[in-house]
Amino acid sequence: MKITPGHVAYITGGASGIGFGIATAFAKAGMRIALADIEEGALNKACEELNSQGFEAAPFQVDVTDREAMAASRDAAIAHFGAVHIVVNNAGVNRAGHITEISYDDWDWVMGVNLDGVVNGAMTFVPELMRHGKDGYMVNTASVGGLIGMPGLAIYNTAKFGVVGLSEALRADLLEAGVGISVLCPGIVRTNLNSSERNRPGNEGKDIQAPENDTLQQGMDPMELGEKVLAAVEADQFFIVTHPEFRELVRQRNDAMVNSFDGEAPPEVIEMMNAMVKPF
Ligand SMILES: NC(=O)c1ccc[n+]([C@@H]2O[C@H](COP(=O)([O-])OP(=O)(O)OC[C@H]3O[C@@H](n4cnc5c(N)ncnc54)[C@H](O)[C@@H]3O)[C@@H](O)[C@H]2O)c1
Repeated sequence: MKITPGHVAYITGGASGIGFGIATAFAKAGMRIALADIEEGALNKACEELNSQGFEAAPFQVDVTDREAMAASRDAAIAHFGAVHIVVNNAGVNRAGHITEISYDDWDWVMGVNLDGVVNGAMTFVPELMRHGKDGYMVNTASVGGLIGMPGLAIYNTAKFGVVGLSEALRADLLEAGVGISVLCPGIVRTNLNSSERNRPGNEGKDIQAPENDTLQQGMDPMELGEKVLAAVEADQFFIVTHPEFRELVRQRNDAMVNSFDGEAPPEVIEMMNAMVKPF
């Protein structure tokens, strides 16, 4: 998709980390930015930072798990900017831990933000994106954790595999309307994800910091990631897998899956499946 200056990007989780990196790259490309986030202080600060650089950004405080609030936020963004052309469903949290150490409450919170939040973003915005046809685009933030299962990440993996599956289905559904879609699957990025508990319901007002040896701080600069997302959107690239250190692991997983098929199917059945599934 060619980015049109003046067009509008609505970005959830836009107040921090990857969302703010994407917002900055899109703003530099001439887009106007609707920043959506649950964290009011950080959201206002992020908007001020973009506006002070001469870009046009406005804050929309929203909890992506709240469907009515998402619809109201969409309406507010459209009332403010006139339209929304690109939606980035990026808000996310993490609660790592061995399967024996996590609770149903942990499942509900992480699945609610990381998977239901993306479902809500898709359901809320697809009609608006379809209105713009080839000028409409959606980016969903998954993770390499949506491509490979990892120790201590049961909830995160479950949600992120869901985001990849949802994005593939949306790709097929939106093909005819001309709306493009990408799924972002980064490795480690230097963000505030390891203090996610700051945004967990019930933790309001608590001072929650990331652990001292926060491994994410050795990761990719979110501004660099934002530029990669911009380039991938401009190239209509569905998978945005940014960290080559995971290539071998993804290959091993794909090989294990493909090698497990037994026997051969008749060519006409293969052809029928290809036509139905819309392959890459
Ligand atoms: N940092 C990494 O290494 C990494 C790797 C792969 C994928 N990701 C994904 O990137 C996305 C962005 O995370 P990040 O790493 O930039 O972390 P971050 O904590 O810096 O940013 C996440 C943003 O989401 C917001 N948020 C949290 N809950 C919300 C809710 N219910 N409603 C609206 N906003 C909410 C937070 O306020 C925050 O601004 C997440 O989906 C995360 O899973 C991160």
